[in-house]
Amino acid sequence: MQLKLKKRGTITLDKKISNGNFRDCYSIKEDSQICIKKIKSNIGFKQKLQLKLLRPQINHEELNLYNSLPNDIKHYFNPVIHAEKNILVSGRPVDYDGNYSKTLLQHKKVSNEHFWREVKRSASLLAKHKIWFFEIYKGGNVVVKKVSKDKFIPIFIDYKHIGWKSFPIQINLLLDSEKERKFFRIFNKTIKRYCKAPHLFDLPVNSKNIHQIVI
Ligand SMILES: Nc1ncnc2c1ncn2[C@@H]1O[C@H](COP(=O)(O)OP(=O)(O)OP(=O)(O)O)[C@@H](O)[C@H]1O
Ligand SMILES: [Mg+2]
Repeated sequence: MQLKLKKRGTITLDKKISNGNFRDCYSIKEDSQICIKKIKSNIGFKQKLQLKLLRPQINHEELNLYNSLPNDIKHYFNPVIHAEKNILVSGRPVDYDGNYSKTLLQHKKVSNEHFWREVKRSASLLAKHKIWFFEIYKGGNVVVKKVSKDKFIPIFIDYKHIGWKSFPIQINLLLDSEKERKFFRIFNKTIKRYCKAPHLFDLPVNSKNIHQIVI
């Protein structure tokens, strides 16, 4: 299938990499370093309402979020290159050996200590900036990028969920304290589910102990 992008020519969708609740993700024939996310045609009812009523420009929101990230955390986020109403063009993380990086969900358990230290560091920086991304730590939204044989780092590939605009509307998420609570709830769930080095964390992690240095 071919897609015509605004001011960027035509691309050819290749293989479907995976999908989430909102978007299907494809590799493209013209460039192995990027992937395309396309709003699903068979999207669920709740997601459809969310897109129609609250977030018709969801891809542009993600592009704007990427562009406005503080410099000290930007490297943890997979770059959004181009956004249209139904299409988003982004990078595709690759490991040191040339293989495509896999998500935490695909790995199931990760023991690499450098990876988990970086996960903790990313959360500490986000907490410092009070940027409460809710779902970046979910297993399907974080990639384990192997930068060398024994050094892995987290890369967030889906960071569109921020604020109260989900469906059903969670009005409590207008409050910063509630955003913070949700951020750490999902963070702790991920540590419990995927971390094979739990001694690195003082569980449950919260905004008080997140800044502790991991030895
Ligand atoms: N940049 C990427 N590189 C490799 N795989 C990716 C990339 N982006 C997405 N994927 C794969 O596609 C899946 C769906 O993408 P994404 O999470 O952005 O969709 P979504 O529908 O917005 O997600 P959600 O259900 O979390 O709202 C991811 O879980 C991941 O497996
Ligand atoms: Mg996702």
